[in-house]
Amino acid sequence: MRTKVIAGNWKMNKDFRQTEELIDGLKKSVNFDLQGVRVILCPPFTSLELASRIAKGTPFAIGGQNMYFEDEGAFTGEVSPGMLKGVGCQYVILGHSERRQYFGETDEFINRKVKKALATGLIPIVCVGETLQQREQNITEQVVTTQVRGVLKDISAENVEKLILAYEPVWAIGTGRNATPQQAEEVHVLIRKLLAELYGAATAERVIIQYGGSVKADNAADLLWQPNVDGALVGGACLKADSFSAIIEAATAKK
Ligand code: 13P
Repeated sequence: MRTKVIAGNWKMNKDFRQTEELIDGLKKSVNFDLQGVRVILCPPFTSLELASRIAKGTPFAIGGQNMYFEDEGAFTGEVSPGMLKGVGCQYVILGHSERRQYFGETDEFINRKVKKALATGLIPIVCVGETLQQREQNITEQVVTTQVRGVLKDISAENVEKLILAYEPVWAIGTGRNATPQQAEEVHVLIRKLLAELYGAATAERVIIQYGGSVKADNAADLLWQPNVDGALVGGACLKADSFSAIIEAATAKK
């Protein structure tokens, strides 16, 4: 039985003061009896240290939204995995579609980051997903297969079990139009089959695959309780304590 993982990707939202407000709100609204569900907060870099500090004593883990694959050096504007760990991060989101779309990240580039994160002891949340045009062209399977193969290239079965994959159809991100539970489950099954092909069935069964794209309080339960959906990567709805806590609740409630 895989545990459910709910992660909030704050994206480029919440300054220092707002970070404190949101985490204070979560402390009040989330029932800390999480029944094994993992909850991760991924604020912007500038709020990570504060978030780690004020989340002490709560069940919330902290994650970065990106990192570079070098330890240090002349890479203006970048942040290293060691720096993330140093401010209390256990996780890092890699290969988000917004990084791919606006900053030109490729599967190969993301793969280097995934390897580096694993080598540093960070758990990467690695994103894949097709665009609307690709879905309409009926090439979702090819696109997602290529991405998964690419981002996991030369990663061992032992390491694959440690990471988290997030299926985020680009057309569902920030649009209010979530994938239906059936659409999500279909792609998650496809990814798990591919993992079985690459790493064997036992490993594939253990890999956590989150769904992301317009997850809200009112659709979370149906998405989260699909057999192959192991959690959610939440954007907009994680920016308010009440909606994010309702999603966490949907993951903890027995169905
Ligand atoms: P929304 O929940 O706002 O659609 O964003 C999803 C996402 O991109 C999470 O990484």
